[in-house]
Amino acid sequence: MRIGIFGTGNIATVFGTLLKNAGNDIDFIYGRTPENADELSKQLGAKAIVNLNEVPNGSDIWILAVSDAALTPLVSSLPPYSGIVVHTAGSIPQTIFEEKFSNYGVLYPYQSTRKERKPNPPIPIFINGNSPKVINSLEALANPWALSVTVVNDEQRLNYHLAAIVANNFTNYILIQLQEFMRAKNLDFDLVMPLLQETLDRLNKGPANTWQTGPAIRKDEVTIQKHLDLIKNEERLHEMYAFLTNAIKHYFKV
Ligand SMILES: NC(=O)c1ccc[n+]([C@@H]2O[C@H](COP(=O)([O-])OP(=O)(O)OC[C@H]3O[C@@H](n4cnc5c(N)ncnc54)[C@H](OP(=O)(O)O)[C@@H]3O)[C@@H](O)[C@H]2O)c1
Repeated sequence: MRIGIFGTGNIATVFGTLLKNAGNDIDFIYGRTPENADELSKQLGAKAIVNLNEVPNGSDIWILAVSDAALTPLVSSLPPYSGIVVHTAGSIPQTIFEEKFSNYGVLYPYQSTRKERKPNPPIPIFINGNSPKVINSLEALANPWALSVTVVNDEQRLNYHLAAIVANNFTNYILIQLQEFMRAKNLDFDLVMPLLQETLDRLNKGPANTWQTGPAIRKDEVTIQKHLDLIKNEERLHEMYAFLTNAIKHYFKV
């Protein structure tokens, strides 16, 4: 298929590469920053576009991979187009396209995606479209390279998006606090890796609420207080420790 990509960031780069490697032609890369549009278009053998009036009309699919806040203004500035237009956002309804285009949908990557990460991790894809024909085309586009392709409506996608924030963004923030604490104490983070691996691996054997361990579920107030004293000057870690300890106690009613 012939693809036009709007945006030059993480998803534009990763989708562009996956789609090109799967045998599609990337017609153009639109970017508001000329250097970024030039760089990505060179990588993908595409034409760089910085002016929306110059967007060519011959692609089968336009992929709008710009920041969420830029999507609606971009849609209203786009020229007329009869192909399929999709965005890649988790929390934006596909109806942002309905006034302007007759074939539209969503191609949402369910993975935390950074263009610097190579090789790219496998990506489950959630799709939707305003007709069976659009959905079939998006399925055919994503099937060769996606880990899985699942059709979901706007509400389901928003719920999956929230789940992704908790699973990835919140977990990662906890790990930022942990690494900063361990670095300050000159501790070896590599020794925590088997613990983290086990936290994930055992989810294959049963739900998370069957695996809780630690001082909060044991109601071990002495240890909890020792830990809180240890980090009394690390404001963010202290707050997080106290909040999560109380949450665990409350959940398990200890
Ligand atoms: N990365 C992920 O893990 C991930 C996962 C799922 C879904 N998504 C979705 O994918 C979309 C793109 O995310 P991303 O991670 O690729 O973002 P990103 O790396 O920050 O790139 C955003 C792109 O949008 C462009 N942009 C920002 N404001 C603009 C404007 N007013 N007009 C035109 N272009 C504008 C930026 O251009 P400049 O470079 O010129 O600033 C950049 O090319 C978002 O809808 C996001 O929710 C991302």
